[in-house]
Amino acid sequence: MLLTPLQLRDLTLPNRIVISPMCQYSAVEGMANDWHLVHLGQYALGGAGAVVVEATAVQRDGRISLGDLGLWNDEQIEPLRRVTEFLKRQGARAGIQLSHAGRKGSSQAPWHGNGPLTEADQVRGEYAWQTVSASEQPIGPAWPAPRPLSIAEIHDLVQDWVEATHRAERAGFDFIEIHAAHGYLLHQFQSSLSNHRSDEYGGSLANRMRLTLEVARAVRQAWPAGRPLFVRLSVIDGTEPSGWSLEDSVVLGRELRAVGIDVIDCSSSGLGGPATAGAAVRTPGFQVSLAEALRQRVPATTMAVGLILDPKQADRILREGKADLFAIAREALFDPYWPVHAALALQADERERFAHWPEQYGWWLQRRERMLAAQGLTSVPQPRLPAD
Ligand SMILES: Cc1cc2nc3c(=O)[nH]c(=O)nc-3n(C[C@H](O)[C@H](O)[C@H](O)COP(=O)(O)O)c2cc1C
Repeated sequence: MLLTPLQLRDLTLPNRIVISPMCQYSAVEGMANDWHLVHLGQYALGGAGAVVVEATAVQRDGRISLGDLGLWNDEQIEPLRRVTEFLKRQGARAGIQLSHAGRKGSSQAPWHGNGPLTEADQVRGEYAWQTVSASEQPIGPAWPAPRPLSIAEIHDLVQDWVEATHRAERAGFDFIEIHAAHGYLLHQFQSSLSNHRSDEYGGSLANRMRLTLEVARAVRQAWPAGRPLFVRLSVIDGTEPSGWSLEDSVVLGRELRAVGIDVIDCSSSGLGGPATAGAAVRTPGFQVSLAEALRQRVPATTMAVGLILDPKQADRILREGKADLFAIAREALFDPYWPVHAALALQADERERFAHWPEQYGWWLQRRERMLAAQGLTSVPQPRLPAD
């Protein structure tokens, strides 16, 4: 199943393996550079069905860190077009995650502390900026208070999402993912822990979902009808107490389907800090049950993510009908060639081995494999998780 195609509107994903968006903290003024081309390009060589560009800010102040990518001006299009052209030439589909960090903006890169920018960061030329959110509650005691967005600013923000969508089209992307997870701005509006507004964007579930749905509707209208749209949700806050539940995600998921969202990418947590540092115990596939629940109850095409490590584990998720697609992030950092290695591990027919590799590599490896096999050796990777 891992290696079967998936049709989404006019787009065919060649397989079910997606490289999850991963901030690189390596852009200057939101511009992609050679780092992004090589970082993302390696995953296309490695056989991914789709590669999703990191959280890309729709407004300059919507960046998480100063090193984030952006699509808030036209100059930022061309370097991303280089990336999409390379990905597509290798047979991968190109996605981009559009985002606004809200109160999680003005942050340090993880290796500089993973907290809010402070005066000490100015030695690197990194100056803090005033963040915005649904309300004025900070992320935590160490974080500065955001400024609540006015209604006029919310309307401008939706328009900026539309402008970024047009730029993503000009940059050649096959699909967009709207980032409504991990405690960033849209999630801040959704969760009652971070949204204390008393206007039409706060209070009831319908009001707290309003901004996410307005963005989804506006992006859908701006994006070509034949190209799919993904939304990433934190399906649960993962905190105690919680301000956003699985039940809320089911309601939102149905509304998102109704406005023409094709795939729900099912993540969790992040409201109170980094997405990779929630309270839940994180075992392999720990968020798959969320994708399964939304797939059954919305129903929606879902993507599972989170500690997916092993090709057989991933194949089982798909076979058991828990998700239609899955994404890998840190496992792709560990092994950018994970998809072709997975194909190798699952490929029963020896003659088919290396068929999924770039021809520049596969021809050589096929012959090396025959030589190894004659000596009782193999290049086929061995499973890392215990068998069922
Ligand atoms: C370096 C790095 C950067 C990340 N940046 C993003 C991002 O830009 N957008 C996002 O939604 N998630 C981001 N994440 C979360 C991943 O996409 C993924 O959901 C998470 O790491 C769990 O998957 P994994 O266990 O395969 O790493 C990032 C993760 C890592 C490791």
